[in-house]
Amino acid sequence: MNVPLIALLFAAFAVGCGSSDEGEELPEVDCNTVTVPKFSEVTGLVKCTICHASTLPAGNRQDAPLGYDYDTYEAASMDPTEAVEEVFKGSMPPADSNITLTDAEKQQLYAWGLCGNPM
Ligand code: HEC
Repeated sequence: MNVPLIALLFAAFAVGCGSSDEGEELPEVDCNTVTVPKFSEVTGLVKCTICHASTLPAGNRQDAPLGYDYDTYEAASMDPTEAVEEVFKGSMPPADSNITLTDAEKQQLYAWGLCGNPM
């Protein structure tokens, strides 16, 4: 392997790393002006818990992966940005689930998830 090729591989790796952050599709939220709800006020997340609840064992989660739960503050706070992204992209709730979040519920989730996820 010659040197330029190695350099190219490193460059591609660096770009790949960066894009995992910058490639996130997240809504614009101005945390300085938005009203950030508490977890208990983010009612949209309750709709996720028929599949994503820490009380639901594998096999009873409609294929929702273990470790992604929204029934408790602790669980929901593990990766709130991921939850925001999935909802913002329209990936969650699944299209075939007949579950939808209202715009108000989405805005609450975005504000909570992106502005410090207060308890
Ligand atoms: C009807 C069941 C169901 C509901 C309701 C549901 N999900 Fe999911 N969720 C799934 C399934 C199945 C997967 C795994 C397949 C996939 O990623 O599409 C998943 C995966 C995920 C993942 C992991 C994505 C990844 O990158 O692996 C996140 C985060 C998530 N859901 C968040 C949510 C949030 C937030 C809500 C509520 C707004 C929600 N889900 C509602 C079934 C559900």
